Amino acid sequence: MDFLGKIKQHRREEERLKWEGTFAEYLELLKERPEIAQSAHSRVYNMIKSAGVSEEDDKKHYHFFDQEIFGLEDAIERLVEEYFHPAAKRLDVRKRILLLMGPVSGGKSTIVTMLKRGLEAYSKTDEGAIYAIKGCPMHEDPLHLVPHHLRDAFYEEYGIKIEGNLSPLNTMRLEQEYDGCIENVLVERIFLSEDKRVGIGTFSPSDPKSQDIADLTGSIDFSTIAEFGSESDPRAYRFDGELNKANRGMMEFQEMLKCDEKFLWHLLSLTQEGNFKAGRFALISADELIVAHTNESEYRSFISNKKNEALHSRIIVMPIPYNLQVSDEERIYEKMIKESDMDVHIAPHALRTAAIFSVLTRLKESESRGIDLVKKMRLYDGENVEGFNNADLHELKTEYQDEGMSGIDPRYVINRISSAIIKKDVPSINALDILRSIKEGLDQHASISKEDKERYLNFISLARQEYDELAKKEVQKAFVYSFEESAKTLMDNYLDNVEAFCNKNKMTDPITGEELDPDEKLMRSIEEQIGISENAKKAFREEILIRISAYARKGKRFDYQSHERLREAIQKKLFADLKDVVKITTSTKTPDETQLKRINEVIARLVDDYGYNTTSANELLKYVGSLLNR
Ligand SMILES: Nc1ncnc2c1ncn2[C@@H]1O[C@H](COP(=O)(O)OP(=O)(O)O)[C@@H](O)[C@H]1O
Ligand SMILES: [Mg+2]
Repeated sequence: MDFLGKIKQHRREEERLKWEGTFAEYLELLKERPEIAQSAHSRVYNMIKSAGVSEEDDKKHYHFFDQEIFGLEDAIERLVEEYFHPAAKRLDVRKRILLLMGPVSGGKSTIVTMLKRGLEAYSKTDEGAIYAIKGCPMHEDPLHLVPHHLRDAFYEEYGIKIEGNLSPLNTMRLEQEYDGCIENVLVERIFLSEDKRVGIGTFSPSDPKSQDIADLTGSIDFSTIAEFGSESDPRAYRFDGELNKANRGMMEFQEMLKCDEKFLWHLLSLTQEGNFKAGRFALISADELIVAHTNESEYRSFISNKKNEALHSRIIVMPIPYNLQVSDEERIYEKMIKESDMDVHIAPHALRTAAIFSVLTRLKESESRGIDLVKKMRLYDGENVEGFNNADLHELKTEYQDEGMSGIDPRYVINRISSAIIKKDVPSINALDILRSIKEGLDQHASISKEDKERYLNFISLARQEYDELAKKEVQKAFVYSFEESAKTLMDNYLDNVEAFCNKNKMTDPITGEELDPDEKLMRSIEEQIGISENAKKAFREEILIRISAYARKGKRFDYQSHERLREAIQKKLFADLKDVVKITTSTKTPDETQLKRINEVIARLVDDYGYNTTSANELLKYVGSLLNR
C-alpha cells in the first residue's frame, strides 16, 4: 500500500476503535470484559506478558523487551517477578516507587521508554483497552462514580474492587451536568499517548529552586477565578501536572534523587495511599505506575543521608547492570549504529572486538574459582569452556552482587567509533581502528582512575589477541573456499609425478613438449607436511599407486578425499602456501602472477561471502600477513 493509503487506513482504524456511551452502557461492557477495569500496574504486567514468555532452566524470558534490550534477561526477570507481577496482584510492592538503579548508559531509559511506547500500543488492543469519564483532564476511572456505600454490592455483582474517590472536579460535574445521575455520565475509550498527554507522563527536575510543584500536580488558573468565583472551585484549577496527566498509565521520574524532597513526598503519598494533594482540594485519587531511575553513586549518597531515611522503605530498588555477554554487546552496538546516521562500512569482527573489551572491563575476577577473565567472558557468552559447567556458571554469576555495575558503557564505544570514522576519512572501519580509538579516548575519559586505565589498557591488548585469532581464521576460511579446486589440481599434479617416479618414466611438459624428470621438490613439499621421511617416501608413493589401481579395478574414482593421509598432506601444503601468499602482500616483494591471482581470489571471497568491502579485505590480508611474519 502506498503511504497516503496507509494514513487513511490508520485513520479508519482509529475511528473503528472509538467508543462512547453512558456509564450504564459502560457497565454492560464491563460485564463481558472485566479486564477493562484493571489497574495501571496490572495493565503493564499483562502487556509485558502478552508479548510472550518462555521458560528455560527455571528462568523466565520476557519477550516484550527482545527488540531493544539485549543481555539483561536476569535483571528483567527479576524486575517483572519481583515488581510488576506482585504489583499487578495489588500486593504491597505496588505502593512503593520503582527505582531502576544502574550504571550510566546501561539501558534504564530504554526500558522505561519501551514500557511507555508499549502501553500506548497496548491501549489500542482489546485486552489493553481503557475507559474514562469523558471530558476529564485526568481521564478518571469511571468506577470512581460508584458511591462508597454501594461498592460492596458492586463487588458482589461484578467481582471488581473499586479503589479511589471521585475527584473534586467530577464530583461537581456530576451534580451540575448530570443532576447526580451517575448512570448518565458519559464514558469514552481513551488511548494512551505521551504526545497528547494521556496516561503517560515524564517529569524531569530542573533547577530545584525554581521548579514549581505545579509541574507535578497542576495549578490554579487565575484567569478563570473571576468566572468561577473562587480559588477552590475545581473548574478554576488546571489538572495538568505530570501526575494528573499520567493517571491510568505511567509516569517516568527522571533523575529522581536529584529532586527536591517536597516533590518526593508527593510521589510517596501517591504510591502509598493512591492519592495526592493538589491546590485546595480534597485528595485526588490516581492510579499510575511511577518509575524512576538513578545511578549507583547518586543512590548511595541518597541512602547515606539520614534525612531520607523515611523514604528508603518506600522505594523498591531494581538493579539494571550492564550486559555481560559479548554477543549481546555486539547487538547493542549494531542497534545503536543503525539508530544513528553513521554511514560507514564496519568490517566483520570489529564490533565483536570492541564488545570483548567492554565486557572485560565489567567483569570481576573470581576469587572462589580459578578462572581467568577471558575464560569467564566466554563462559558467560554461552561458549563451552573446558573444566567448567553450568553449575560453575551459576556460581560465578552469583559470586558478586555488583558485577556489571561498573566498567565501560556502550555509548562510550559508539562515540569512539564515530571519532575513528572522522579520523580515518575512509568510510570503512576495522577492529584495530576501533581499539586504537578506544585507547586514545581513555585519556579524555574524565571518570577513569589511573588504576582503571591500567586495567583497561590490558583489556585492549586481550581484545586484540582475540581479534588476531579471529582474523587468522577468517583468512584461512576464505582461502579454503576455493580449496576444492586447488586441492584437486595439486593432487593431480602430485599423482602424475608419483606415477612417473614409480614407473621410472619421464614427464612431458604440456606446453613445450619437453621431457622432464618427475618434480621431486613438489612431491617432497607435500610429503613433508605429514612427516614422511626421505627413506619412507618410496613406500608411500608405491602404496598410493596400488590404492589407485585397486580403485580403478572396482570402477571407483580416486580423488584426494580417498586417502586420509594424502588429504591431510594436501591441505597442509595449501595452508603453507597461503602463508607465503599472505606474507608477500605485506613485504616489499611484488607478488608474481599466480600469487596475485590467489590474493585477488581471497579478496573476492572475503567481499562476496564474508561481508568485507575491498578496503577492509585488503586491510585484513595485510594485517594477517604481518601476524604471520612475526
Ligand atoms: N542491555 C542493553 N541492550 C540494548 N541496548 C542497550 C543496553 N544497554 C545500553 N543500551 C543502549 O545504550 C544507550 C544508552 O542507554 P540508556 O537507556 O539511555 O541508558 P541509561 O538510561 O541507563 O543511562 C541506548 O542507546 C541503549 O539502547
Ligand atoms: Mg537514562
